[in-house]
Amino acid sequence: MRIDIITVHPELLDSPFQHSIIKRAQEKGLLQIHIHQLRQWAVNEYGQVDDYQFGGGAGMVMMCEPLAKAIEALSLQNKYDEIIFLTPDGVQLNQQIANTLSLKNNLLLICGHYKGIDERIRQNFITKEISIGDYVLSGGELAAAVLTDAIGRLLPGVLNDETSALSDSFQDNLLAPPVYTRPENFRNWKVPEVLMGGNHKKIDEWRHEQSLNRTKEKRPDLLDKQ
Ligand code: ADE
Repeated sequence: MRIDIITVHPELLDSPFQHSIIKRAQEKGLLQIHIHQLRQWAVNEYGQVDDYQFGGGAGMVMMCEPLAKAIEALSLQNKYDEIIFLTPDGVQLNQQIANTLSLKNNLLLICGHYKGIDERIRQNFITKEISIGDYVLSGGELAAAVLTDAIGRLLPGVLNDETSALSDSFQDNLLAPPVYTRPENFRNWKVPEVLMGGNHKKIDEWRHEQSLNRTKEKRPDLLDKQ
């Protein structure tokens, strides 16, 4: 899969993709991430990409021309399955959306800043609008990093059997069960006996029950989606 990201702050995305699973996904050639500075399509030599909003009001708006030119230039090189704008008024990201997007080949992510982007870009280019939660970030970069991470780890071959995404929380609308590692007894806090017994049928049943209880307790809303 290839993910292109358009941003005025490429440096914000330097680190998130250079570690751990997403780094390995790129090294294995399973994921390509390309970050593009929007200012290369600026309207003037000062690198301007935003302007005051019509009708008055505080806050700058990202202009049509740089975004349109950027999207068109990149679309000539890649056939995008989705052009996604990260915005607090988009649909809220969940595992189902990440699963669906992980099946695509080419995604273009647009990071907004200031008051947002000119509505005409949303109407004429954007195919999906995604929020990572009901709060406002300074820009779309951190949201783009979250989305890329959530998608990238699902690509076939990125995780091995032991870390398989199939056992993640949310994959079946249940939270994951508790996990333990050595030592078996820490400050007299003991690992549940069933996990030490080696009976895999019993362990699976226990884990499922724990998942259900945990979901009932912490996220009962997920059980309505079963
Ligand atoms: N940009 C600013 N806030 C955001 C959010 N919550 N989700 C996605 N993009 C954003």
